[in-house]
Amino acid sequence: MSMPTSSVRICAPCRRVALLQHHLARTARLPSPRLFSSTPSAPSHDNPLGLPRNNERRPPQMPRRGTGVPEKRSIPYVKKVLAVSSGKGGVGKSTISANLALALAQTAADCPSSISASPRKPRIGLLDLDIFGPSVPKLMGLEDVGEPELTQDGGLIPLVNHGISCMSMGFLLPPGTSGSNADTPVVWRGMMVMKATQQLLFDVDWRRGASPDTPRSDASNSSPATAAAAAATTSTTPAEDWLDVLVIDMPPGTGDVALSLSQLVKVDGAVVVSTPQEVALIDARKGVSMFNKVKVPIAGLVLNMSHFVSPDTGRAFELFGPSRPFDDYAQQRGLPILGRIPLQPDVSTGGDRGQPTVLRPTIQVESGNGQVGGAAETRDNLARDEFLAIAKQCWQKLA
Ligand SMILES: Nc1ncnc2c1ncn2[C@@H]1O[C@H](COP(=O)(O)OP(=O)(O)O)[C@@H](O)[C@H]1O
Ligand SMILES: [Mg+2]
Repeated sequence: MSMPTSSVRICAPCRRVALLQHHLARTARLPSPRLFSSTPSAPSHDNPLGLPRNNERRPPQMPRRGTGVPEKRSIPYVKKVLAVSSGKGGVGKSTISANLALALAQTAADCPSSISASPRKPRIGLLDLDIFGPSVPKLMGLEDVGEPELTQDGGLIPLVNHGISCMSMGFLLPPGTSGSNADTPVVWRGMMVMKATQQLLFDVDWRRGASPDTPRSDASNSSPATAAAAAATTSTTPAEDWLDVLVIDMPPGTGDVALSLSQLVKVDGAVVVSTPQEVALIDARKGVSMFNKVKVPIAGLVLNMSHFVSPDTGRAFELFGPSRPFDDYAQQRGLPILGRIPLQPDVSTGGDRGQPTVLRPTIQVESGNGQVGGAAETRDNLARDEFLAIAKQCWQKLA
């Protein structure tokens, strides 16, 4: 039984049946389902995801006019936050976020730092904040795999693939008639979107081993500083169960969501993505200005689709124009260029298969002197090398 939980899935009879089932399960002392869709809370403007309410676990409120800027908070159970942003859609933010999360997991394992000094495998998460166009389920091979479970106090439990904990609006949409939710739109106005953003930021339980039996820990409701201290000392939530880094895939632009994130959350670094085209660079510059304004440190810039390397000759072509304007801008602003990712078919096809390119050290390319249908050859995965180099710099900057 699936219960509606957002404005796009409201259906009063279904909700009544689900509430009744939930009530019966409780009174019969059967374990009540802890799936997201069977949450007994009604979605509202204040609670668009319809998570069970817990007054002690309230996200910070957006400031009303005249009340000043809110205090930035840490995301519960997350040590470092890295936002991947750009002014424009289609420049590769989601692709970069997914590959960067995987590359961070590989890089961080080889380079112990103050974030994760112990020799354990680093814990990396990926949060998709693109409410209207979530891509993380597809890119991480988590499409139609079911919905998140809830902890005892109503925290969303991330879904995991390739060793990365993921959360996305795409996991929370009801399936359409085809059985898939790929066609289900989110039809919300600004306030609902901001509230849903806050819930995705503060109501996900990123702890290792979070399960429907996980009780609320003192750490989740305290101030960031006390939360960190509590988690480090509480045997139920040792610091090594926290995420080392949460990569956030931002929606395009400098609107409500980007602003909510920047004002509410202590972001440790922003990676601003552009392509060589001037239309993309103009918008990326706006992103940089916004982060400066809200005092989010910029880890650096990434030029995506910067060039194409011919499989035959190894020659690089700047298909989308010269990188000069991008380089000049970075130099003027004193911003580091973290990397230049080539336009490479495997980046795109791998994303569509839910197998990001970072997972493959080598790729198959067609060569054969430019003839269509030439022989396949194995080559180094240049995009992967670049992602690993970017991840290494980010990891060092975050430490
Ligand atoms: N370096 C690249 N090489 C080839 N295709 C890419 C590359 N970067 C992104 N793409 C493709 O471009 C499209 C847009 O990327 P996406 O990550 O969805 O952008 P955004 O999140 O900024 O809207 C996708 O089809 C993706 O596979
Ligand atoms: Mg995207």
